[in-house]
Formats: sequence, structure tokens, C-alpha cells
Amino acid sequence: MNAGKNKTYLRALAGEAVTPPPVWLMRQAGRYLPEYRELRSGVKNFLDFCYTPDLAVEVTLQPLRRYGFDAAILFSDILVIPDALGQKVAFREGEGPVLTPIRSADDLKGLGMDRLHDHLAPVYETVSRLASSIPETTALIGFAGAPWTVATYMVEGRGSKDHAAARTWAFDGDGFADLITLLTDATAEYLIRQADHGAEALQLFDTWAGVLSPSQFGRWVIEPTAEIVARIKAAHPDIPVVGFPRGAGVMYETFVRETGVDGVSIDNSVPPSWAARVLQPMCTVQGNLDNMSVIAGGPAMEAEVRGILAALSGGPFIFNLGHGILPETPPENVARLVDIVRGA
Ligand code: CP3
Repeated sequence: MNAGKNKTYLRALAGEAVTPPPVWLMRQAGRYLPEYRELRSGVKNFLDFCYTPDLAVEVTLQPLRRYGFDAAILFSDILVIPDALGQKVAFREGEGPVLTPIRSADDLKGLGMDRLHDHLAPVYETVSRLASSIPETTALIGFAGAPWTVATYMVEGRGSKDHAAARTWAFDGDGFADLITLLTDATAEYLIRQADHGAEALQLFDTWAGVLSPSQFGRWVIEPTAEIVARIKAAHPDIPVVGFPRGAGVMYETFVRETGVDGVSIDNSVPPSWAARVLQPMCTVQGNLDNMSVIAGGPAMEAEVRGILAALSGGPFIFNLGHGILPETPPENVARLVDIVRGA
């Protein structure tokens, strides 16, 4: 792995305690950056924006130019998978994603993998172009939503707070396991293609993992994740995979033990000292600054950053947030954050 030697993010994922630790931020490309808003204003439909390699490459690079992050994350969205499977997906201004809900085994009949790779070809093109254009010390992360989280959007038809329809169907319904199997297959293939095109690590975003009971967490978070990790490793034995089962609480430990991930991204409810003691001996830990503290900035943010660094720098660690950066974030606070992590 000569390519990995000068990439601190990949060294950390290989198990090394790197000083200072690599840093990147979930959702580092996006609306908090004026240069993103400028490009985004030229395209009505957010999915079209994701499927235009010229634009997706450019917005992936924007935060690297400002902050020199140690990793770039492909610019796309987790909802390209339902879109590629044949579900209608739209993003409405101020409202977020809107999908035609899938609520029964019958509704599943309209979905399928036959057009998956054709539909996602522009994303693969973006990955290829990024692989040859990012700085040589920067790692390229590919990603997908994990099956449970993508299913919540497919079933609810929109973002939701309690995920009632998906959680109910998951308990009693004919067809829900088939939906998760379809998503597991599609997600594994999608991530393997991203690796084929030059992604050097893969992250699975399971934003809504924390709403499930322990038995359901095992079935709909751990099992599909373990299956996806196994399939990726069969095709690309050396590519590291990072899981982000947000809100998993005490289940983070079981998640790491049973899925085979190389790294785990923790949300800001997890005490860094607990993660250092329990998770770091098993895998690389990524996280977990409260995204609100970056809006606040100043000494409060600095104290949080230093606390996380003190707890986790002794083992394999990647500095990140506990969830994606928010649109209200002042860009100068991000610059300060990166300076603190790098020892300024
Ligand atoms: O990290 C990055 O910079 C890469 C790009 C990325 C986006 N979405 C771009 C995006 C990634 C990794 C995602 C993941 C994603 N998308 C998740 C999982 C992570 C998380 O934050 O929980 C989820 C749940 C989604 C689904 C999604 N996409 C929602 C609910 C929304 C609307 C809410 C919002 O933030 O606007 C999106 C839209 C979206 N995805 C935007 C961006 C930059 C904003 C769209 C715009 O520019 O109008």
C-alpha cells in the first residue's frame, strides 16, 4: 500500500496513532461555504447537481482548498440509491427529500437493480476524476447510506422524527426484509464500484441507527452492515470500511465487534474516554465534536476539541464531528478548528 504512506487518514485507519491526527468533517462540502451556494444556485434539481461530474468534482474540492483536510469525500447523497432503484426522489427547497413511499411488498415490485450501474455512472465518473485530481496527501472517501437509514426515507417518503412507518413495518411486515436485502445488494455493489474507480476508503452512514431497539438494531443495522463489509472485502481486501451507526449508544461496542468495520464514527453523545477504552482497542475511532460547538466557535469550541484530542490521540484516531456540519456554521470557525487539531 505505497499510496497510503503519505496519507495520514489511511495510516490511522490501518491502526496507527498519528500525531497530529488526520482531520476531515462530515458534510464538509455544502451550504456553509459561499462558493458551494454559488455553484448550487445554478442548478435547480439537487440530484442533477450530484449527477454532474464537473460540479460534483468542483464542490468536493472546495473545502480542501480552504482547509487542506486530510480526506476528501465524494460529493453525492445517500438517496441516489432509491433513485437508481426506480423510486421517485425529489429534493424540495426548505423541505428536504420527498419520495413516493414504499409501504408494502407490492410497492417493492416497482424497484430493481437492472439499471443501477447505468444510473450511477456519473457518480463513478466523479470518483475517477477525483482520484486523479486530489492532492497526494489527501485520501478519497466513497460512501453510501446504510440500508436501515436509506429504508427509513424510502418508507416514510420524507425525513421524519420517529420513523413510525418504517419501524412498524420492520416489526410485523411482509416485505421489509426484502427491502433491506435489496438495499444490501445495491449498496455493496455501489461501494465496490466506487472502490473500482479509485475510492480509497468507504463510509456507511447509518444516521437513524439509534432509533431501533437492540433486537432490531441487530437485524437491520448489524446484519446488513456485516454483509456489506464482507462483500466489499471479498472484492477489495485492503480497502478500509468505516461505519457510522449514529446514536447507537452502548450498542457501538457490539456493532464494532460484529460487523468487521475498520473504523467507527461516533456521535457526540459518546464520551471520548469510553471510546478510547472500549472501541479503540478494536478499531480506529472517528469523531466526535458537537456540530453546534462549531457554530458557537470561540473558547467553548476550543475546550471541546482539546478534550477529544486528549482522550483519543493515544490510539488510532481521526478527528471529525459527531454529525454533519450545519449550514449556519461560520467558515472561519472551521479554519480555527483545523488549526487547533494541527497544534496551533
Ligand atoms: O459529506 C459531504 O460533504 C458529502 C456529501 C453528502 C451529502 N449528503 C450532500 C448533501 C453526504 C455524505 C450526505 C449524506 C446524507 N444525505 C445523509 C447521512 C449523513 C447525515 O448527515 O445524516 C443523509 C441522512 C442524507 C439525506 C439528505 N440529503 C437530507 C435529509 C437532505 C436535506 C437536508 C439538508 O441538509 O438539506 C439532503 C440534501 C443534501 N445532501 C445537501 C447536501 C450538500 C443539501 C442540498 C442543497 O444543497 O440544497
